[in-house]
Amino acid sequence: MSSYENILFSQEAGIGYVTIHRPKALNALNAATVDELDRLLDEIARDAAIQVVIVTGSGEKSFVAGADITEMRPLGAIAGRAWGQKGQAVFTKMENLPQPVIAAVNGFALGGGCELALACDIRIASEKAKFGQPETGLGITPGFGGTQRLPRIVGKGRAKEILFTADMIDAAEAYRIGLVNKVVAPEELMTAAKAMAGRIMKRSASAVQLAKAAVNRGIEAGLENGIAYEAEVFGLCFATEDQKEGMTAFVEKRKPEFKNR
Ligand code: CAA
Repeated sequence: MSSYENILFSQEAGIGYVTIHRPKALNALNAATVDELDRLLDEIARDAAIQVVIVTGSGEKSFVAGADITEMRPLGAIAGRAWGQKGQAVFTKMENLPQPVIAAVNGFALGGGCELALACDIRIASEKAKFGQPETGLGITPGFGGTQRLPRIVGKGRAKEILFTADMIDAAEAYRIGLVNKVVAPEELMTAAKAMAGRIMKRSASAVQLAKAAVNRGIEAGLENGIAYEAEVFGLCFATEDQKEGMTAFVEKRKPEFKNR
């Protein structure tokens, strides 16, 4: 793996740890960081040893405090659109990464930070996490997918309230509206994320990746196309060694030993 300036990356026991690291700006995403994330995601996608990815923010205070406002301030319309398209493309790449991605939200997840969490498959929050889309208070709309992913996750009415008021919500409220899957004490956040990763890694990685692709593709394609895609994916599973092993282990009343292929 390459080394990065604004992202810390490590890999252990099948888990890839991505930590956004810009302590001087509460891990706000400048263009250099988004470019680094883009390259890192390509590396992760190619690495079969990584089965689950955990994304978090450096330090105790912030997950990601949004896109970098200082860098955005002088932009014009064309450059603004290009910046939005860049962020969108990288977050969509993360959403469609073959491996499952868990956001471990340790603090502020605002603007682009909330959008980063929304592009992950599963969100676990520390009790200290705060979510919000403050953009309308800055005279802009969310630009890295927030207007689209937030309503898909929490519903239109709640998403509009968050977007229009720009108010922050705490972890308990985020859990209540289905924005996060789980809330834990701050000191238990990484343990909880690892435990979730561990539960996923007990299953067939090929089946997990196909299930992820089926949800992501199908949900945007309408039920008819979505279930047709599911049938293709389901059929493909029967070409894997994991399917033979999983079903044989069941019949033989033992635990499966998946080879993830
Ligand atoms: N961009 C650039 N710098 C940021 C930043 C951001 N999004 N968020 C925080 N920082 C910087 C601050 O400017 C400050 O730097 P200095 O020490 O050099 O002054 C440093 O990080 C620490 O921040 P604060 O002193 O403000 O810390 P705080 O505890 O008082 O407040 C906060 C924390 C509430 C998160 C506050 O920093 C804040 O409101 N940040 C901006 C949040 C925001 O509006 N995010 C959305 C950005 S727009 C966007 O993301 C568009 C999109 O959809 C892509």
